[in-house]
Amino acid sequence: MHPFSSSAPRLRQANFRCIGCGDLGDAASQDFRCSHCGDLLEIIYPQWQEAKPSAENLKSAWSQRRLSLSPVDLSGVWRFQDLLPALDTAPGSTHDDGQQVITLREGNTPLYELPQCARITGVPRLFAKHQGMNPTGSFKDCGMTVAATFARHAGFRWVGCASTGNTSASMAAYAARGGMRSLVLVPEGKVSWSKLSQALDYGAVTCQLRTDFDGCLRLLQELVRRAPIYQLNSINPFRLEGQKTLAIELLEQLDWQPPDHIIVPGGNLGNSSAIGKALLEMRDLGLTARLPKLSVIQAEGANALVRTLRETGGKRLVSIQAETRATAIRIGNPASWKKAAHVLEATGGACEQVSEVEIAQAKAEIGAEGIGCEPASAVTLAGLKKLLKQKFVKPDESVVLVLTGNLLKDPDFTIEFHRGEMFKGSAEESASARLDPLRRAPIVLDAALDAVMRVLEQAEKS
Ligand code: F0G
Repeated sequence: MHPFSSSAPRLRQANFRCIGCGDLGDAASQDFRCSHCGDLLEIIYPQWQEAKPSAENLKSAWSQRRLSLSPVDLSGVWRFQDLLPALDTAPGSTHDDGQQVITLREGNTPLYELPQCARITGVPRLFAKHQGMNPTGSFKDCGMTVAATFARHAGFRWVGCASTGNTSASMAAYAARGGMRSLVLVPEGKVSWSKLSQALDYGAVTCQLRTDFDGCLRLLQELVRRAPIYQLNSINPFRLEGQKTLAIELLEQLDWQPPDHIIVPGGNLGNSSAIGKALLEMRDLGLTARLPKLSVIQAEGANALVRTLRETGGKRLVSIQAETRATAIRIGNPASWKKAAHVLEATGGACEQVSEVEIAQAKAEIGAEGIGCEPASAVTLAGLKKLLKQKFVKPDESVVLVLTGNLLKDPDFTIEFHRGEMFKGSAEESASARLDPLRRAPIVLDAALDAVMRVLEQAEKS
């Protein structure tokens, strides 16, 4: 008897493989765990061993598709479909069938230079890959287009996730586009209103549970065993396949000259795992000759991977009770920690933690570049500063920060920071005094020309 269930999406020309015992299957159980050893599954492509796709052909196919007007090619994810699982289509129809794919034209995100942050850090070749420019404002869309497509293809009517906000916003949108219902489990009071409002607007059944993210995820795991709900958290390996395209698109934008470093925030650790998987696959396929070092940055109060690597050498997860104002990464029991530890080791990357004050400072510095991001994304710049101090990153190296979410995702954080309310009365109050020059509090005035002129003169002096 094969351990994998049959109602789940099946893979064609690819396999699920357990990251623990290596067991193979063409369908995954509802919790995406190996029924032998309980470890997570990943998707692999054995046909690449037999007939390796030509790197040059792939690059030229991806360029060609940029000229196409089909929705599938206009997606910055499906344009790279050659490195994604293929839909098990009926005879006669093609993978390219736009009717099957649920897409909001995700991906296609800009790679920005960061001249001011380059000056601050002393790293001239500093870039931001801004995943916050995705349709629902975060990197989740790149994974969701793939996982939601496979969910619908397998006939699921319901999809569900536990979330710190962005996954739920993205899932709700893709479910709505694909005609599916969605169930969202979020920790009460710890998700920004912007993200929550997206889930509501896109029609999700939204439950605010009196627990944290880890509690929501535990409950979802139990739920999917009872009800035919397809789980769209990042333990779903289809999500990670879609999120791989961030790295593919990035290298294409750099004309296949990899940067020395890619720095990414770590929460549940799906995204770092996906980016690392893409880098390793691209190296194996000859798309790039050199591996960038992939580093993961966590908030000090949500530093499970940092502690896991330091205290157990990556052998055993050190779970924690997470607390950080960067609520997107307020996660203490990251599901994909083993996958992330593997790609850190394989690429030679580092894992660091940053304080709340460092996060707030970095977020304001990125914002002052005119692009903005949410707090969880800003850990990347704060982490870069640490890695420079440790001489892990050298100033003459090229660095790409992955900005995972849009500034508009968490306006409360930004307003509290600029009004100077963020650290008031907290242990960090004195440490945060150095951030005063970055603050731009709104100024309330009478509607009088003189009053505004005085403000202008004052600002000119500062
Ligand atoms: N940055 C943002 C903006 C996020 O929303 C998340 C995760 C991360 C970074 C961390 O990514 O989990 O793959 O390591 N947000 C999830 C959510 C957990 O539910 O929206 P990760």
